Amino acid sequence: MQYNLKSKLIHWVMSVMIITMLFIGYFMKGMPELVYNLHKSTGMLLLGLLCIRLVVRLKSKYPELPESTPKIVKIVAKANVLGLYLAMFIMPLSGFLMSTLAGRSVPFFGLFEISSLATYKPLAYTFHEIHEICPIIFIALIAAHIAGGLFHHFILKDNVLRKML
Ligand code: HEM
Ligand code: HEM
Repeated sequence: MQYNLKSKLIHWVMSVMIITMLFIGYFMKGMPELVYNLHKSTGMLLLGLLCIRLVVRLKSKYPELPESTPKIVKIVAKANVLGLYLAMFIMPLSGFLMSTLAGRSVPFFGLFEISSLATYKPLAYTFHEIHEICPIIFIALIAAHIAGGLFHHFILKDNVLRKML
């Protein structure tokens, strides 16, 4: 059983966007305002895509890992996916909250701006901290996820990676 086309499409589109966002995030300091605006807009778009992804996931039947997979590996894989979903949610949300609570409006590709909801610097600072710590955990989860996919494909030689291609 394969992942359906919608699930594959959203998995790969979001993966490329997230990895690019992580790179841009780290190299953004001192860059023109436009880069910050693009980072914020893309982050907000990713939050929207995550909502669509959750609906797709709830409405689709997803393949199980092969029977032969040890139980502990299945548990680790489930925890990894849960962690990835949490990080996909916390990253854009903390970015939005740190900006909006710092009194800044959040742009969306020059189409419109979300005006600051409130100004409360101490909480903005907390979300800023979260926006700095969460990527480290996110990168570790992604690295483990990719290593897992490649391990299934090249070492266990099962169809886990092919189901997502
Ligand atoms: C999936 C979505 C997102 C990812 C993966 C992401 C990733 C990152 C990363 C890795 C950094 C660098 C952190 C550091 O310097 O240690 C960063 C910085 C930043 N992000 Fe995001 N971000 C996302 C969404 C957003 C959103 C939605 C906003 C605002 C609406 C935002 C606003 C910012 C700002 C303003 C900074 C610079 C903080 C500073 O250097 O003081 N991000 N982001
Ligand atoms: C930012 C990057 C990535 C994120 C956030 C991510 C997230 C996810 C999530 C949440 C799932 C569970 C299915 C779903 O709900 O959509 C999944 C499945 C999968 N991903 Fe990724 N992924 C990323 C990148 C990659 C990469 C680069 C590979 C290549 C090795 C990969 C290979 C797979 C495979 C093979 C599955 C199916 C696993 C199974 O059936 O148990 N992913 N991914």
